[in-house]
Amino acid sequence: MSNQESPSHPRNIVLVGFMGSGKSTIARVLHQRLGYPVVEMDQILEKRAGKPITRIFEEDGEEAFRDMEAGLLCELDDPSASKRIISTGGGIVVRPGNREVLPRLGYVVWLKVPAKTILSRTSQTRHRPLLQTENPEAAVREMMEKREPFYEEVSNLALETTGLDSGEIASGILECARYHFAQLS
Ligand code: S3P
Repeated sequence: MSNQESPSHPRNIVLVGFMGSGKSTIARVLHQRLGYPVVEMDQILEKRAGKPITRIFEEDGEEAFRDMEAGLLCELDDPSASKRIISTGGGIVVRPGNREVLPRLGYVVWLKVPAKTILSRTSQTRHRPLLQTENPEAAVREMMEKREPFYEEVSNLALETTGLDSGEIASGILECARYHFAQLS
């Protein structure tokens, strides 16, 4: 990517999308390609809280988690902090204030994955408190319906990932991001 910096347009790549959409995996591939550091928001929040997300939800409640998440997002909203890959939690778009911040951080990519893929990817894992319900399928479909317009609203690119491997997804993102940043410089 160009070395030219514009303080008002940080050259971060921000990944948004539902739980299990592949944000962390793609963040790692982008890191390998670009060398930019990865900011894994959920990992930072777990470190700060000193416990896993499931326990934050159990002991402090979802609102407390959302407050921490929104606080961290505001910290990341620093125009001079550029060239990072920011991997967000799937619920980052729920709060309207977060939806204002996200586009300021850089090039926002929505990894778009169908509900059935999400369900098969998340069914074997227990670290997502919002899916620990009697009917995870209904939970996923309900949350997706609510969130998809929000992902759409904040993103520069909606990338349908079905049929693509992680290398192909990363290549698509890089090509589009390069074009986007070139237009700004
Ligand atoms: C959440 C997604 C999770 C994590 C938390 C809440 C959500 O992140 O932030 O469990 O509301 O969709 P991933 O998208 O990385 O699973």
